[in-house]
Amino acid sequence: MKIVVLMASPNVNGSTHLLTEAFTEGAQSKGHDVQVIDVAHANVQPCTGCVACGYEGPCILHDSMDGIKAAILSSDMIVFATPLYYFGMSAQLKVVIDRFCSFNSSLHAKHMKSALLAVAWNSDAWTFEALSLHYKTLVKYCHFDDKGAILGTGCGTPSMTRHSAFMEKARALGASL
Ligand SMILES: Cc1cc2nc3c(=O)[nH]c(=O)nc-3n(C[C@H](O)[C@H](O)[C@H](O)COP(=O)(O)O)c2cc1C
Repeated sequence: MKIVVLMASPNVNGSTHLLTEAFTEGAQSKGHDVQVIDVAHANVQPCTGCVACGYEGPCILHDSMDGIKAAILSSDMIVFATPLYYFGMSAQLKVVIDRFCSFNSSLHAKHMKSALLAVAWNSDAWTFEALSLHYKTLVKYCHFDDKGAILGTGCGTPSMTRHSAFMEKARALGASL
C-alpha cells in the first residue's frame, strides 16, 4: 500500500527522523511504498478560518499544502511523526492538520489507516497522555483505522533515541503492516 509520513520535526537529523527512518525500513521490507514529507520545512500557512472551502472545496491559500493534500488523498495510510512540544504535537504538524479543513469530507470518506510516531525528553508515565488523546480523537473524527503509536519517552536526543527500544518498535510497526 501507499503510506505518507508527515515528518514534523524541524531537526532533519533528529529523533523524530530516526523513528521515521526505522518505521520506513520496516514498511519497505514488506513491499509498501513510503513517501516521507518534511512538513516542518514546507511552506504551509495557517488556516485562516474563512471556511470559503465549506469544509470540502478549494482553499483560498496556495502553498505546499496543495502537494501535501494530493499525497494524502492518493495514499492508503497516513503517519504523523512529531516531537512532543509542550505535551502536544509540534506546531509545524498542527498547521498541516488544520489545513485538512478544505478536504475534510474526502479525508473521512477514505477510511485511511493511520499511525503516530512521537519522541519526548520526559519519561514519566503521563508524558504522552495529552498527545495520545488528541491522536485517538483525530482517529475517531477522521474515521482512520489506527495501526498503532510509538511513543518514545526518554528520546531527548538522537543518541538517546538510537539506543532506545523505540527504534525496533517503530521498525516492527512498519513491518506489521
Ligand atoms: C519547543 C520544545 C518543546 C518541548 N516540549 C517537550 C515536552 O513537553 N515534553 C518533553 O518530554 N519533551 C519536550 N521537548 C523535547 C523534545 O520533544 C525532544 O528533545 C525530542 O527528542 C526532539 O525531537 P527532534 O530531535 O526530532 O527535534 C521539547 C523540545 C522543544 C524544542
